[in-house]
Amino acid sequence: KTSHYRANCFCDFSIDRNLRKPKSTNFVMDTVNSLGTLQDEACTDVRSFFELAPSLKNRDTITQKVNEFVCHNSHSSENLKSIGVVCVTSGGTTVPLEQRCVRYIDNFSSGNRGAASTEYFLKAGYAVIFVYRRGSCQPYCRYLPEDSFLDFFGVSEKGEIQVCQMNDRVVKTAITEYHSAVDNGLLLKLPFTTIFEYLQILQLVATSMSSLGPRGMFYLAAAVSDFYVPWENMATHKIQSTGPLNMRLSQVPKMLLVLRKEWAPLAFGISFKLETDPKILIEKANASLRKYQMHVVVANELATYKTEVVLLAFDGRVLTIRKQDEDENANADIEKKIIKILVDMHSEYMETFAKE
Ligand code: PMT
Repeated sequence: KTSHYRANCFCDFSIDRNLRKPKSTNFVMDTVNSLGTLQDEACTDVRSFFELAPSLKNRDTITQKVNEFVCHNSHSSENLKSIGVVCVTSGGTTVPLEQRCVRYIDNFSSGNRGAASTEYFLKAGYAVIFVYRRGSCQPYCRYLPEDSFLDFFGVSEKGEIQVCQMNDRVVKTAITEYHSAVDNGLLLKLPFTTIFEYLQILQLVATSMSSLGPRGMFYLAAAVSDFYVPWENMATHKIQSTGPLNMRLSQVPKMLLVLRKEWAPLAFGISFKLETDPKILIEKANASLRKYQMHVVVANELATYKTEVVLLAFDGRVLTIRKQDEDENANADIEKKIIKILVDMHSEYMETFAKE
């Protein structure tokens, strides 16, 4: 447990850098052409998804919180403490099978990547809107609930709560960094459970963050459902077990292009591509980069996602980040290196706007 926490402090990874050949004019034209048709189709699907989705509880409160946070971290703020604002999405979305939900389909994600990345973004000077699945890993206490926090504390003879000495430093650091982020208005946490909540929150955050222009960034690590039961087709009550269950699932519209083109067009967009078949991973990640006009796609394979990712950037750069077994600090987070590279890419991106 202690070594997990210690891992935050020391990191050492290897990086392969290969520069791919520059994009041809045809590539750019193909992308622009496909964007036109895709955008129309995508917009209709997206609109009807939102129209038919159950409305988000506490929408007004969430909107107000997000707007205040964005305003606090905008250039016009008197005490600007952040270099940019990043929306980190984390954990898996659920698809309810009943309106009064007893059963649901889930997506694989512990939320560790999003929580770890949030810590590194904060360390790099960003303000973070952390959109997370309820009950998934949280920044600064990522090893809960598996490693119980009760293990970190003891009770003295006088009945006072004490931190066990061997964990003293990590607990103090975690508490201090967490409170400093919240107290300085640099961390806003927004929970979701279902695909309906997730997409409505993402839209709301993106629309608000569009005012930040290129200072805004999206880091979409959440594992988002591809299929769902539309609300109006869903059973109201618990489905009875009177025989085999036949169920037709509709496709969840991909929101990535709409996010990039409509909700927050100047923001720096990073999405993830998860596959189980290594043979198709890079091809699919490349397709996602072009089709959804992302600035970076982080490709990872289920079997190795904690130790290897490939970053594909819109300018043709391909970077493989590996955490190697023989590394002295084999427990170190791969996210530390991922965030460092992304922060550099984002600042290059912001500079191009500053020059204009
Ligand atoms: O949380 P951990 O346990 O640490 O695991 C991290 C992770 C493996 C979940 C993470 O690294 C990861 O890969 N997240 C993305 C998983 C995923 O949904 O991949 P996908 O290939 O199905 O989707 C690709 C992208 O499209 C994602 O950025 C997703 O946000 C987006 N998407 C997906 C479906 C959908 N209907 N709309 C979307 O916009």
